[in-house]
Amino acid sequence: MKTTFKRKLFVIGLMILVLGFTTMSFVGYQDNKPKPWKVPEASKKMKNAVKSDAASIAAGKTMYSKHCKSCHGSKGLGDGPKAKELDTECGNFSTAAFHGQTDGEIFYKIKEGRDDMPSFKKKIPDDEDIWNIVNFMRTLAK
Ligand code: HEC
Repeated sequence: MKTTFKRKLFVIGLMILVLGFTTMSFVGYQDNKPKPWKVPEASKKMKNAVKSDAASIAAGKTMYSKHCKSCHGSKGLGDGPKAKELDTECGNFSTAAFHGQTDGEIFYKIKEGRDDMPSFKKKIPDDEDIWNIVNFMRTLAK
């Protein structure tokens, strides 16, 4: 009698462990996977209002260092010191996939934000500053 009871306990314990690990890895997997952004068509087509010249890129770099580097890293690789504390990966601004999107899409994402990515509507109220950042980000392409 005693052994069967112990065995049952053991099997139940094992099942709880396996189930727990499966759930944990599933939730972890879901959290880190980047979901596609829903960017409105009009925003996608929005024209960059600031010409990308040395002055704009330099201004963008200053803003980026102040507001973005802590998470995205100085080269946009998603390796800033704060990135480790987040549930979501910060993405990689050096990839062809990232630069395949329009300036308008990048502008929209900076303005609106999503989850761990803050909205900069209030912190950077001047659109021109955001366009400068977009121009700087284009220089991070590999
Ligand atoms: C607190 C950390 C944090 C800060 C600060 C931050 N970001 Fe992000 N950013 C994220 C995270 C996390 C994501 C991924 C969000 C997602 O996919 O849901 C992201 C996503 C993005 C994206 C979309 C990436 C893609 O693949 O299209 C852009 C663009 C972006 N950030 C630009 C910026 C800019 C520019 C700044 C500064 C003005 C900034 N971020 C500041 C955390 C941050």
